[in-house]
Order: sequence, then C-alpha cells, then structure tokens
Amino acid sequence: METNIVSRSRGWLDRAKTLIEAGEVVAFHTETVYGLGANALSDEAVLKIFALKGRPADNPLIVHVHKDYDISPLIDGEPPYAAALRRAFLPGPLTMVYPSTGKVSKYVSCGLDTLAIRVPSSPTAQAFLKAADLPIAAPSANLSKHVSPVTARHVFDDFNGKIPLILDGGACSSGIESTVLDCTGDIPQILREGLVTREMIVEAVGECGVYHAKSGERPKSPGMAYKHYSPRCKTAYFPREELEKAVACYREEEACGAPCFLCESEVCALLQGFRTLDLGRTPEEMARRLYALLRKGEQQATLLIGIEPREKGGVMAGVMNRMKRAFGVEHGTKES
Ligand code: TXA
Ligand code: MG
Repeated sequence: METNIVSRSRGWLDRAKTLIEAGEVVAFHTETVYGLGANALSDEAVLKIFALKGRPADNPLIVHVHKDYDISPLIDGEPPYAAALRRAFLPGPLTMVYPSTGKVSKYVSCGLDTLAIRVPSSPTAQAFLKAADLPIAAPSANLSKHVSPVTARHVFDDFNGKIPLILDGGACSSGIESTVLDCTGDIPQILREGLVTREMIVEAVGECGVYHAKSGERPKSPGMAYKHYSPRCKTAYFPREELEKAVACYREEEACGAPCFLCESEVCALLQGFRTLDLGRTPEEMARRLYALLRKGEQQATLLIGIEPREKGGVMAGVMNRMKRAFGVEHGTKES
C-alpha cells in the first residue's frame, strides 16, 4: 500500500471520508500529537488500529469528535463540573472520561465501563472530523512503545506502506498528549497529565485530584502501565545535581559509540563541546520539542542521556512524566 502525506488541497477531505467509511485507518494532525483514526462505530475498523500499532488489547482508545458533534448519545449525562470544563477547555488538549453507554464499538474501551472523548482544536483535526461526521477512535500515531509523532514525517516513519493517508497539519503546537481526566466521580481526577494542568482545572471548577495507581492494581488509565515513548537507543537519566556523573557516563560511551545529552537550554550552555539536544527554556517549549528530539536522538546517538529539568509544576508535570517514561525511569509494571 502506498502511504500519501497530504496537506490542505482540493479533495483531501473527501478522500479521508471515503477511506474512513470503507473502514480504513487515516492518520491526522492534532494540536497535541498525530492520531491514527478509524470509525469508532465499527469493530473491524477499531481492531485494525490495534493490529497496526501492535497495541495491547487492554489499552483503550480515545474517541475524537468535531466541536459541533452531539456527544449526548455517547454519554449518560455529566456532572456540572464536566460541563463547565468542556466550556472552558474544549476544543483543546483535554480528554474527558465518562461512564460509557455502549454506543461505540466495544473494542474502543477494552472492557472498561467508561469512554474517553476528546475534541481537538487543530484546524486539520476539526476539518477531518467534520468531514467524517462520525466518532473517530484514535490513539497516538506511533508504533506501540515508540515515541509519539509530532510531524507527518514521524507518522510516515512508523507506518509507511501500512496506512493509505496522513493528513498533514504541520508540527504539533502542544507536543505532548492531552490531559486525560476522569469525570465519573464527585470531583475530576487527572489520569494522565498534559497541557491542561491541575492548576487550570482547579481554577475553573475548584477541585481536581491526580490519580496514582497503587502497585498491583489495574490502573484506571491502562496506558499508564506500559513502557512508552521509548527512543530506539540506549538511555540514561540523571538529576541535575548529578551532572558530573552524567558527564562520566558520556565519556565512557564516547570510547565506542555516540553519546548525546538531552537537556534544557541552561544545562546545554554548561555542556560546551559535548553533543547536546536542546529542550528549550519554558515548559511549553520543552513540551513542544521533547518528542521530536527523542526521535532525532535515536537516529543520531547510541546513548541518549537525559538531564532532569529544574522546574516541576504546571505543564512540567506532563513533560516530566513523558521524560521519565521515555528514559525508563518510570514505566509501570508491564513490558509490552
Ligand atoms: O492527545 C491525545 O490524547 C492523542 C491525540 C491523538 O488525540 N491521543 C492519545 O491516545 O494520546 P493514546 O491512545 O496514545 O493514549 C490514550 C490514553 C491511554 O493512556 C489510555 O489508557 C487512556 O488514554 N484511556 C483511553 N480510554 C480510557 C478510558 N475509558 N478510561 C481511562 N483511560 C483511558
Ligand atoms: Mg500513545
């Protein structure tokens, strides 16, 4: 199969719609990362996503809808805080988890009694979802475990010859995946941190918890149990205070391979004469650059050495979560 990358041009959405209606998988730009979309109402189409990604069968998918799509048939009402959060943050990088009503393929939720819904803001995603006029199940458009894609080229690198179409909307402006928020309880609870932060949710509705799975328990957001975002090279990770140890690690690798640091601008400046990939200065910049640099790192280095950024709160919570998992510092309990 030939894989075409198309950007806004005559007939591009008709092509995407025809493919979706035929049960095919279409990759598309969103403001967070690229998604691998298929008709959420079709068992066959949804199963195709799992097969293409090599995704574990117990890791549920997010359903994406256009901003004017009527989600009421997909959910069974919602608490007032959820309605307020939808008004405040959608379209945007926030995924809401509701009790499911069984209206989409059962393979979307993988046996959970909840359904995750997201309304992306990117013009490409909005145009695609409007044209498709169906709920679109979509995980990030990377092979399972690999780094999430933030350009059409990244998607192509993982799926060339396996999917017919990639809707190119340029580089993703947010750069890490949406915040996943459990809206089934009395107060909202973050299952996966992202660009919509706990602080922003508290400001909007007064309260917000952050879920941490206890060891041995099936996590509420099953994806968080898997090794993820991993570059295909050796990795090491050091806190900022251990920069000397990190340099020793670099020197040791240099004898036989090609080490490279991945760190914030301030640390790059201290590492003159070493190979570095610069994450940037602000949390938003680090979010936007992280995945592209991990993919660049795996191509250019035999060992990628991450240095933990200094800042921790707000958007950095999401960046740190992805960084630690990419570097294998926190990858839950499962290996696949
Ligand atoms: O920004 C994003 O969310 C991107 C773009 C493409 O929209 N999508 C994305 O999908 O990151 P994926 O499949 O890579 O990650 C979805 C996460 C997983 O951790 C999954 O376990 C969780 O959302 N999830 C999906 N449905 C859920 C549900 N019903 N309850 C709890 N967690 C759910
Ligand atoms: Mg993913």
